[in-house]
Amino acid sequence: MLLSDQVLLLDQVAFVTGAGSGIGRAGAIAMARSGARVVVSDLDGDKAAAVVAEITAEGHRATSLALDVTYDAALNSAIDQTVAEYGRLDILHSHAGIQIEGSLEQVTAADMDASWALNVRAHFVASKAAVAHMKNQGRGSIIITASNSGVQYDREMISYATTKHAVVAMTRQMAADYARYNIRFNTLCPGFVDTPFNAGFEKQMGGRGNLESYISENIPMGRWATVDEIADAVLFLASHRSSFMTGHALVIDGGECIA
Ligand code: NAI
Repeated sequence: MLLSDQVLLLDQVAFVTGAGSGIGRAGAIAMARSGARVVVSDLDGDKAAAVVAEITAEGHRATSLALDVTYDAALNSAIDQTVAEYGRLDILHSHAGIQIEGSLEQVTAADMDASWALNVRAHFVASKAAVAHMKNQGRGSIIITASNSGVQYDREMISYATTKHAVVAMTRQMAADYARYNIRFNTLCPGFVDTPFNAGFEKQMGGRGNLESYISENIPMGRWATVDEIADAVLFLASHRSSFMTGHALVIDGGECIA
């Protein structure tokens, strides 16, 4: 890590959802290594605490929180509490999401509601809570995890592709509305990243071997992304390095969406 990276987010306050595993975890660790104080929240409080233990063992700053982002009151109060405790909120990475595989005939209306609740509505609620504070500060960066499924179409993933497209649209709208307040909104749009999140797709493909073949044959770069490659994009969107960028869908997918 370059010396300039270690102070990239010095003393900034970041709040991350779904940060107990995968991309959220890697982004939280990267932001803490860059000087931020990070609130690591996850549905599973033990996983969040384990990430905080990793961060503090390296001498960086973080606190953990058990938080289900589908509970509006809990999400609002977690963000308000962060500001009460640390005095500000510079970065929101609203990351938790859900993938329910299947076509129109396989996915139920309840599955679609569950996908909407996590992949769109929770990002709306979190963003609303964060802008209230960021407006007072006159700045902020809100990063919402969508997917490259928000800018392309998959096969038999109706609830996922629909809600991820919706959140890209919602983020662009929020970016347009809040640019004048110096609050930036961007979506993070990864392709295949090797985390537990792909368990459903792996099942749909008929096992790990088939999934590996699918990736080597269908991703132009022939491999998965690492979580650290996505964490680099989180740092970029969180920091002044993207200071004139808002309303963007940042695709990091080894060329999948142009294949
Ligand atoms: P992961 O499975 O490694 O971690 C997800 C975390 O979210 C888990 O720790 C889980 O406990 C937490 N979580 C689940 N429901 C929650 C809830 N209701 N409230 C709070 N936390 C909750 O997954 P990963 O890879 O980090 O992916 C998660 C996000 O990234 C999703 O939004 C997904 O759509 C997006 N994404 C992932 C890709 C991948 O290939 N891994 C590709 C494109 C997008």
